Amino acid sequence: MLILGIESSCDETALALVEDGKIVLSSLIASQIATHAKWGGVIPEIAAREHLTAIRAMSVQLLSESGKTLSDIDAIAVTQGPGLIGCLLVGATFAKGLAQSAGKPIIAVNHVHAHVHGALLGIDAPHEQIFPTLALVVSGGHTNLYYMKSCVNFELLAHTIDDACGESFDKVGKMMGLPYPGGPHVEVLAKQGTPQKVKMPRMVERKSQLLFSYSGLKTAVALAVQNMNKTGHRMEDIAHSFQEEALGQILRKLTIALGIRPSTKSIIVAGGVAANGRFKELMSHATTLPVWFPPLKYCSDNGAMIAALAFFQHRSEAIATPCSTALEWDVFSRYPFEFFMAPEFSSAPTLNTVPKNS
Ligand code: KG4
Ligand code: ZN
Repeated sequence: MLILGIESSCDETALALVEDGKIVLSSLIASQIATHAKWGGVIPEIAAREHLTAIRAMSVQLLSESGKTLSDIDAIAVTQGPGLIGCLLVGATFAKGLAQSAGKPIIAVNHVHAHVHGALLGIDAPHEQIFPTLALVVSGGHTNLYYMKSCVNFELLAHTIDDACGESFDKVGKMMGLPYPGGPHVEVLAKQGTPQKVKMPRMVERKSQLLFSYSGLKTAVALAVQNMNKTGHRMEDIAHSFQEEALGQILRKLTIALGIRPSTKSIIVAGGVAANGRFKELMSHATTLPVWFPPLKYCSDNGAMIAALAFFQHRSEAIATPCSTALEWDVFSRYPFEFFMAPEFSSAPTLNTVPKNS
């Protein structure tokens, strides 16, 4: 089954053609980083207009590069949400128009869930060896931890209660005067830092057993940067300590989750922050289970992950809910946490409901 995947939720216009959820025939990504860099962050209105400018020409290029025509495509998949509403509307409206004019089914896809399929695209192992898995989506907009019994079953165990991990990298980068997006630049700076020179807080442990939090850490970095003259700390040392705690927090929560879900066979790490080399290193020491990171080209937003999830969704929904291929759906801007949260965690954010050390 050949699926055209369309992604436009934030600052990348991305399209890909994927066969049977696994074989990427062609993938195009137009990044808007250069446009937004001068503002120090994504400007939603500008991002939507850039998608509008790029999307049609990219779809023509994708088809001609892969030697396919619209009639070869079996379905069109598109990001439904979460994301910037104007950006989502460009992709969804384009996809609906294309689907209707070509008489193809359309499959709406959750962007955050699709990131997991970005990692699965690089894995050769059969699904029986991967699932059940604990999947982390660590991106600029989300820090979500899922228990997945299959590649379309997402049980949300934890999310951030404030900033996302990638967002905190970007904000810290900005405080340090680094270019946007800060994540990769903070990683480079952190490599030159001396370990344990600067102490960072672990506030989230007092708030919740599994949920993530980055606002306290961000404030600690702001104060450390402000007081550099007095303390004599170097920017590299602050970056190092920040990165250790930003990623260390995820590893600690993952260890707890492994205790809660003992049948876990593997761990998947997806999203932009999965490109971080120190993350891979720390993860390799944290567990004996197989850990899958996506190939670099599928860490950030891309159309292949959208087409891949759509394939498996379509295959399972052919039995359960065929209505997902209809046009009567709308984009959504925020992640519907309550809806997807696993029952035992659904009252989150719950403070102090789980005794420490239990
Ligand atoms: O998944 P993604 O492309 O977009 C969202 O869906 O949010 O993730 C982008 C995020 C940005 O916050 C960026 O700074 C972060 O991923 N990122 C990194 C690294 N490369 C990208 N964070 C830390 N270390 C990196 N090497
Ligand atoms: Zn993303």
